Amino acid sequence: MMSGAVNMKTSELQYRSLIRDELQEVQAYLLHPVPNMPPPLSEAIKELINSGGKRLRPALTILSTYICGADVVQAIPLAAAIEMLHTATLIHDDLIDNARVRRGAKTLNACWSPSTTVLAGDVVFAWAAKLAAQTQNLYLMKRFSETLEVICYGELNQMFYGLGVLPTVTTYYERIYAKTGSLFALTTEAGGILARYSEAQVQQLHRFGMLLGRAFQIVDDILDFMSDEDTLGKPVGSDLRHGLITLPVLHYVQTFPGDTRISQVLQRTATEETYQSLIEDLHHSDAAEWAMTQAQEDVRQALEILYGYPPTPYRHAMEEIAHFSIQRGY
Ligand code: IPE
Ligand code: IPE
Ligand code: MG
Ligand code: MG
Repeated sequence: MMSGAVNMKTSELQYRSLIRDELQEVQAYLLHPVPNMPPPLSEAIKELINSGGKRLRPALTILSTYICGADVVQAIPLAAAIEMLHTATLIHDDLIDNARVRRGAKTLNACWSPSTTVLAGDVVFAWAAKLAAQTQNLYLMKRFSETLEVICYGELNQMFYGLGVLPTVTTYYERIYAKTGSLFALTTEAGGILARYSEAQVQQLHRFGMLLGRAFQIVDDILDFMSDEDTLGKPVGSDLRHGLITLPVLHYVQTFPGDTRISQVLQRTATEETYQSLIEDLHHSDAAEWAMTQAQEDVRQALEILYGYPPTPYRHAMEEIAHFSIQRGY
């Protein structure tokens, strides 16, 4: 087990009370009644939206807006749009991965056919785009679409070139930028864009969010085999079972290059006993701890950027989220 790990829960974090009203407004956008949708499906989507997501991305969007001194009125529909985009990617991700549980509840694909799930995800993407348009900021809408593009390219590249081969560390970092870092970067850029900051300043905010998202995803990849389903609200060991080699496992491979189980994972020929024994050995190795050090370094660099902004309660809340991203539930 990793040393110094503290179980932080989002419900205990200060940002929840600091921006409670703004997050409630985001929630109202997310649960806005939708016409023309078959009621069982709109109920299922509503349940997913209500099922206890951490709302980190909307929080980051609102906090970056305050930190940059921009008008929060535009940031609220954008924060909702980003959370919707996140929700839609999860719907499709769970279908692709055949995951049955998310946020402790059954996934859409566990209840409906693949075609229904694809279309439901598409509808949520459409809602996200409509919300992004409410900002009436063309540049933000462009960045919104580019981010969705990066997420989809990332998934496609992984499918076309990533399966069956051991990734390099560089490929791993590209992958997690695509799937997580890019959206986190959009949330933190948002404030700078709304405040009409210079391109260089917006780039720096992008880097801040990218580092935060990267650390967050590294920890997600650690938790994937270090945690349990009750804590995670999603299945354990699912990356390995999908032939996905993440940073901690890459470190394990470098330490034990002769371990033949890794090729079985890559070839998708591993048995359940093999997965179990590999997960056990990962627990006893320094894989998680080593990867955690990388995530901590990302957060350290991210905080260095953040410290360039005035020490307001909003900045402190952002610092808190940065710490949370590497200290959440093992
Ligand atoms: C899950 O994101 C997908 C990853 C990028 C690891 P979150 O862990 O933020 O999911 P919710 O929204 O809180 O359920
Ligand atoms: C999903 O990342 C991020 C997306 C962009 C869909 P993961 O596959 O690691 O997320 P979980 O583990 O299913 O939540
Ligand atoms: Mg997944
Ligand atoms: Mg994961």
